Amino acid sequence: MAFPSAPSALWSVSLLTVLCAAAVHSNIVYEEDPLQPVTSDETVSVGGTVTLTCHVPESDNSSLQWSNTAQQTLYFGEKRALRDNRIQLHRSTSTELSITIGDVQLSDEGEYTCSIFTMPVRTARATVTVLGVPGKPQISGFENAVPEGGKVTLTCTSTGSKPPARLRWYRGTLELEGRPDVVESVPDDPTYNVSSELDLEVSRSDDNALITCAVDHPSLASGGKRSEQALRVLYPPNVQISPGSDLPREGDKFHLECKGNGNPEPSSYVWEKKDGELPPLAKVDGALLRFEMLNKTDDGVYLCNANNGIGDGLGEYTLHVQDPTAMSTTSSVDHAVIGGVVAVIVFILLCLLIVLGRYLIRHKGTYLTHEAKGSDDAPDADTAIINAEGGHSGAEDKKEYFI
Ligand SMILES: *[C@@H]1O[C@H](CO)[C@@H](O)[C@H](O)[C@H]1NC(C)=O
Ligand SMILES: *[C@@H]1O[C@H](CO)[C@@H](O)[C@H](O)[C@H]1NC(C)=O
Ligand SMILES: *[C@@H]1O[C@H](CO)[C@@H](O)[C@H](O)[C@H]1NC(C)=O
Repeated sequence: MAFPSAPSALWSVSLLTVLCAAAVHSNIVYEEDPLQPVTSDETVSVGGTVTLTCHVPESDNSSLQWSNTAQQTLYFGEKRALRDNRIQLHRSTSTELSITIGDVQLSDEGEYTCSIFTMPVRTARATVTVLGVPGKPQISGFENAVPEGGKVTLTCTSTGSKPPARLRWYRGTLELEGRPDVVESVPDDPTYNVSSELDLEVSRSDDNALITCAVDHPSLASGGKRSEQALRVLYPPNVQISPGSDLPREGDKFHLECKGNGNPEPSSYVWEKKDGELPPLAKVDGALLRFEMLNKTDDGVYLCNANNGIGDGLGEYTLHVQDPTAMSTTSSVDHAVIGGVVAVIVFILLCLLIVLGRYLIRHKGTYLTHEAKGSDDAPDADTAIINAEGGHSGAEDKKEYFI
């Protein structure tokens, strides 16, 4: 029986030893000491201001002191010890000594020490982490317009971040997947250069599209810093011909316009008439085909071929010359539709008025019978009923008109 208990006793002893060792090194023991100063670690961006606070739970009026990473004393109580205007006293009481460091530099990173000159001297350390703020990202790799279907590789670089920044690509508000970020540490400097590449195959819809590179970093507000690059894509014309008027009438002055919709704008236009010559009174004026005086004989299909150096585009338009007396059919149809709609609305309003009028009269009638039988109001109700009947017959008239 005694034999198995020996290892467990040994185990308990070793556990106790470990616990004791842990207790000696842990803050639990220090926190029980009312004279032990307490500090906190801080993170600050380059150029920012950090406040270092040192507290003691109780005071025996001993002096507090802050010293920097090189163990130089910064403040001893409220007395400045180091000539550095970036370092200022924030608060000095018997239980607190706080200082601020302004215009923080990367070299300010490290462990700062707060000491209280009790017997023995007690100290606490605060680690200051300085974030390197990334510069505005730069996009390179796009110089000249690219033909439709071509490939583009954009490179975005950002310098000066610590820890390394994250780069993101967007087209408008849509995030695009770039190649993984490449992180390079800068020699003799704790910061990083980060770059990312984006491969695109451009189409005509990418012409004038804005590609954004944004740098994401804890030292930056959400949205970060960003740069934009506009894409320019070359593509052949997609021709449309639009007429100078919707109602070409014989004898009118008229023109057709050839719209290139290419990048660049077409530089040459060729006008033709399908199955024939251009009419003698039609004059080619670049993108325009002008008719001095329309004639029925001008009817037919007109073709415009536009070239912008990238390629050709062909558009066609069928001209049908109307009689000189023709009226704009579309607008007369519009008038008929508007007239019909107005008539229907008036009819519905009349019906509503009648229904409302009847309801009001009935309501008033019951009110009168209950509260004021045979009162002076009776003539009014009669008038109202007569009015309502008048309105009713009006509605019937309207109905007959509509049928
Ligand atoms: C600290 O100093 C104040 C006034 O200077 C005194 O009233 C107080 O008793 C002192 N406390 C201790 C613990 O010495
Ligand atoms: C980081 O970027 C800076 C500025 O563009 C450049 O001068 C430097 O050579 C780059 N360093 C590395 C390691 O890429
Ligand atoms: C239309 O052209 C024909 C033949 O070219 C000509 O005889 C006629 O007078 C023209 N009509 C008008 C309205 O100009």
